[in-house]
Amino acid sequence: MTYPKYLLELVQTTYDMWQKGWDEYNGGNISYRLKKDEIEKLSEDFSGTSYKLYDKPYEVKDLMAVPKIVQGEYLLITASGSHFRYLKEQPEIDTGIVKLTENGYQIIAGYNTGKRPTSEIFMHILSHAARLSQNENHRVVIHNHATNIVLFSLLNEVTSESLTKDLWSVLTESIVVFPDGISVLPWEVPGTREIGEATGELLKECRLVVWAKHGVLSTGVDFEDCFGLIETANKAAGLALDLQRISGKPLKENNVLSDDDLRAVCSALKVQGRYL
Ligand code: 13P
Ligand code: ZN
Repeated sequence: MTYPKYLLELVQTTYDMWQKGWDEYNGGNISYRLKKDEIEKLSEDFSGTSYKLYDKPYEVKDLMAVPKIVQGEYLLITASGSHFRYLKEQPEIDTGIVKLTENGYQIIAGYNTGKRPTSEIFMHILSHAARLSQNENHRVVIHNHATNIVLFSLLNEVTSESLTKDLWSVLTESIVVFPDGISVLPWEVPGTREIGEATGELLKECRLVVWAKHGVLSTGVDFEDCFGLIETANKAAGLALDLQRISGKPLKENNVLSDDDLRAVCSALKVQGRYL
């Protein structure tokens, strides 16, 4: 018996991210919000697999005030300390399914050897809540350390507007992929409730957040949507870095797209760019 599609997709995504070099060692984490029919079929889907299902779920009761909009939701979420190079060999150890409660979660399945959800669980819960309030089809949150994005934020003083426009200006179609832009959170200590709360706030207005000098997180209706956002932003950050390096000039002094060029792309492709 094989795993359900959403687990296979999450596993594949973790490996793709590791291959890209975005998830060194235990870096990065992913969560997926299960659909109603997937929740109903949990026991059926996992019986005959290595995944443990728990009659008496382990419960964490004092994590945080979980927003109403996600209480009762089921998240498939990677374990803290999971290595994406190796996760595909042992998804029953490195992933699990939790049901969100009023103040924490119950472990419904997985984490066979006793691992626990990612240290960025606050961010995952609050990000799902923020995006779900904007789009009922929202499902996936990905965090990783996409190399070019991290490097760009180390080299340049970035704000939401400057980063968004810099990345749009070097890759013509990126404005179509993320017309609502990228929000930047100045550096904060990872894994805290504070970083989760700040991220949740930013995600009310866009789907992509850069944690300066740390990494990026994206949200989407499926894994491909979510991965594609980071892939595009990271490609643009790489172009911007190369352009600065090759020319020896600040990005804007190069032959990049102007605001008028970007407006023309928006009008042809029927999107509204955030800072234009
Ligand atoms: P976890 O191993 O707890 O998921 O942490 C990885 C990470 O990237 C924290 O920001
Ligand atoms: Zn991280």
